[in-house]
Amino acid sequence: MAGGGLSQLPRKRRGILLAGLGAATVTGVAGVWRWQRGPTYPQGAPLQVDVSSLPAGQLLTVQWNQRPVWVLRRSPADLATLVRNDNALTDARSEHSAQPPGCVNLHRSLDPALLVAVGLCTHQGCTPMLQAGVGFTCPCHASRYDLAGRVFKQGPAPANLVIPAYHLAADGRLVLGALA
Ligand code: FES
Repeated sequence: MAGGGLSQLPRKRRGILLAGLGAATVTGVAGVWRWQRGPTYPQGAPLQVDVSSLPAGQLLTVQWNQRPVWVLRRSPADLATLVRNDNALTDARSEHSAQPPGCVNLHRSLDPALLVAVGLCTHQGCTPMLQAGVGFTCPCHASRYDLAGRVFKQGPAPANLVIPAYHLAADGRLVLGALA
């Protein structure tokens, strides 16, 4: 950081930045990570996932690039819950969280119906549990996330769940690891 340095950043921002720097150091071990302004998001060898038969409310977990990646098909009722939560969220607009540019929106996804997220808590990496129609709760220190992976203020997790690079192919397949 030019000028003020890390020590002058607010504690939560400093934690997110250090997490991003830590991720950047794994280049060559777990795939290719690209540094951008702000927190980065993971990219890597593409993996195609057929999500055509995934029913609403069901969470699919696939292993990609040495991490679990969730795919959740959200119902219209699920999407409606995202509008109500803004004041309770740490980063409601995902300005300080890691996701590709096309996912900086209310639903944090390319297709509103599909959540694609790394299934690791941004505090210490535990695996949050899905509460259908509500969000995700981390079993380690009780951080909570909504159905877009946006973290609630009351827990220790500093940032929203990480969204990896992905795109949706013409045949509807999800392609993890690369933007279109
Ligand atoms: S690891 Fe999830 S709240 Fe601590």
